[in-house]
Amino acid sequence: MNHSSGNDADRSTDPVVSVLLDPDWASGSLVDDVRRGLGSRPLRLPPKWLYDDEGSRLFDRITKLPEYYPFTAEHAILDRHAADIAAACDATTLVELGSGTSEKTRLLLEALHGTGRLRRFVPVDVSEGILRESASLIGEHWPDVTVEAVVGDFTLHLGHLPRGDTRMVAFLGGTIGNLYVEERAAFLGALADSLDPGEWLLLGTDLVKSIDRLVPAYFDAEGVTDRFVRNGLHVLNRELGADFDPGAFGYVAFWDPHMERMDLRLRAEEPQQVTIPGADLVVDIAAGEELQVEISTKFRLEGIRGELAAAGFEVAETFTDPDEDFALTLARRV
Ligand code: SAH
Ligand code: TRP
Repeated sequence: MNHSSGNDADRSTDPVVSVLLDPDWASGSLVDDVRRGLGSRPLRLPPKWLYDDEGSRLFDRITKLPEYYPFTAEHAILDRHAADIAAACDATTLVELGSGTSEKTRLLLEALHGTGRLRRFVPVDVSEGILRESASLIGEHWPDVTVEAVVGDFTLHLGHLPRGDTRMVAFLGGTIGNLYVEERAAFLGALADSLDPGEWLLLGTDLVKSIDRLVPAYFDAEGVTDRFVRNGLHVLNRELGADFDPGAFGYVAFWDPHMERMDLRLRAEEPQQVTIPGADLVVDIAAGEELQVEISTKFRLEGIRGELAAAGFEVAETFTDPDEDFALTLARRV
């Protein structure tokens, strides 16, 4: 199930797309994830399944909301420092994990391209539609850069990243904060294992800040985030034939001060029984019971440095925006 499909390429600049994920979600790891997440307590919906085409579209809208400061802050850092990042490293391939639209990444591509060293861009995402679209646009904009897109899961497929020259892996958007503590350590360890000494990591992390800014970023006035989170239930209905009534859940977003993370959930308004034929599962949900959908961990600079060191990375430079809302850390595999 590891095939390439470059056959729709009619121009040399069209991206090569490798599909490492099972093209039919319902026959693969979605079933395992759902059995694990909804077959025991607390109920947990695995978040990578939020990003079907509709989810990716809603996420793109989130990034444009006035309340969603992480996008603006990370964009401001790249605007100001992409050239410094490009000058500080010797990467010839840029890999981007969870690339989505790669909108901010364009600033980095421009700066790396400006050094004359950039040869290849490898965006990696589970969301195939948006990946293909953005890979094409980037191929058109930088025709001398080879685009090799990977439809894959960054928690499973790091060992399959293309090799051959000096890579920089960008992991932006604070997506690392969506992993649970133990998953995060495993991810950083696997990433370090997949890189050679001297290769680079550029890590975007949202920073701890006032609750007055954190909560609205995940509970916007327009209700886009609510729809994005609720879309996870539509995905299960469509892919696994489940009979979730998305309207029977309320959206909950709270700051967990102990874990220093936003915690995003769906709370059952009334008792309900949900049948999920594709996962061979019947779930009885009590009134008030919550489905844990996503966390978004916020970091401190010392913590990031320590976690990176523990995984085998040495921090070269840290960049923040003037308000210290967000950090971009450039680190090197030791
Ligand atoms: N990097 C972009 C998008 C962040 S949203 C930005 O900074 O704005 C998170 C992205 O990661 C989405 O595009 C989603 O489809 C992708 N994603 C989520 N879980 C993933 C996984 N396990 N493997 C690969 N991609 C994943
Ligand atoms: N990486 C983003 C973040 O943690 C993902 C995200 C933004 C998100 N808004 C969300 C995930 C709402 C779930 C629900 O900020």
